[in-house]
Amino acid sequence: MSGTRSFLIASTAEQTDLQLDSQGNLRHLLTMHNLEQQHITMLLDKAETYLSDIGKKPVRSTTLQGRTVASLFFEPSTRTRTSFELAAHRLGADFLNLNVNTSSRRKGESLLDTVYTLQAMQVDVLIVRDAQTGVPAYIANHANEFISVLNAGESTIAHPTQALLDLLTIRQQKKDFEKLTVAIIGDIKHSRVARSTSEALVTMGAPDIRLICPESLTPEKGTLPSQAKILHNVRDGISNADVIMPLRIQRERIENLADIPTVDQYYANYGLKSSHMSLAAPDAIVMHPGPMNRGIEIESKLADSAASVIQEQVKNGVAVRMAVLAAVIKSLNYKDSK
Ligand code: NCD
Repeated sequence: MSGTRSFLIASTAEQTDLQLDSQGNLRHLLTMHNLEQQHITMLLDKAETYLSDIGKKPVRSTTLQGRTVASLFFEPSTRTRTSFELAAHRLGADFLNLNVNTSSRRKGESLLDTVYTLQAMQVDVLIVRDAQTGVPAYIANHANEFISVLNAGESTIAHPTQALLDLLTIRQQKKDFEKLTVAIIGDIKHSRVARSTSEALVTMGAPDIRLICPESLTPEKGTLPSQAKILHNVRDGISNADVIMPLRIQRERIENLADIPTVDQYYANYGLKSSHMSLAAPDAIVMHPGPMNRGIEIESKLADSAASVIQEQVKNGVAVRMAVLAAVIKSLNYKDSK
C-alpha cells in the first residue's frame, strides 16, 4: 500500500495480539480491526457517561488521578490532540504535551529512546500519532508493562478513537447499526478514518457501507473491509444513505498531485452539496472528521445545516477518549494500589 510501508513491525495480527491483555481487556488501543462488538459497545456506553449538555459543566472524575498521560504527535493535529488533553485533565491526570518540533527525535534520538525517557518519568499512557505504519504497535511492543499506547492516527491505516467517536455519533442519531447505509466520500485511498470507521461499522453489523472516490484515489485491494463497496459516482453512492461523511484530500500523502482532480473538478464531481441531500434518506446526517475544507469536499452551508452533526462528533471525541483512557488504565500492571 503506498505510504503505508511497514517500516517497523505490526502486521494487523500483531496489533490485535498486543491490544488485549490475557483477560481480554483493552491494554492498548492500536486498531479497530478485530476489536469485537462487546469492546466497542463497552467503550461507547462508557463514553455516554462522560457527556453533559453544552452550557453545563463537563463531567469530571478522579479515575486517572496520580497518573500521567503524554502525547507524542509527529504529525499535525487540532481536534485529536486537544480532546485527548481535555479527556486526561477531566479524569484527573497530569498531561504532558511533547513538542516534537523541539524534541530530541529531531536531533537524532531514536524513537525508542524518547519512549524510554518518558517511561523513566513514569508516564502511564502514551498517545502517539505518526506518518509511518507500525509506530504505535512498535512502541507498545517495546514499552514496559506500566505503559499503555493509544493510536491517535497512524499513516493511512488506523485512527481508532476517530472510529469510536464516529460510531458514538451515529448511534446517538440512528440507534440501529444493522439497518444503516453509510456513504464515505473522498480520498479513500489515503484515509485512516475511512479504514478504521468502516472496520468498526462492519463489526457493528452495518450492512451497506459505500466508499466513494475519484478513480485516482481508489484504495488498493485488500486494504479496506471486503464488505465495503467502492463507487465512483456521488449521486449513486449517497442514494438512500443514512449517514454521509465527506473527507479531506490527504495532500501530504500524495506523491504526484498532478494525478488527482483540481480543486474545482473535485468540488464539481465529489463535493457534497445541499442539492444532493434529496437523494439521501430523509433524515440523513452529515459528518466530517475535520479538518474540513469548506467549498472543496463540502458545501459550506451544508456543514452548518440541521443535517450536520460535525460539532457533535467533536464533543463526542472528548467523551470517547475519556472512555478509552479509563479502560486502559484498568489494565496496567501497577505495583502500588490503584
Ligand atoms: C483526520 C486524521 O488526522 O486522520 N483528522 C482527525 O483526526 N480529526 C482526518 C484528516 O486529517 O483529514
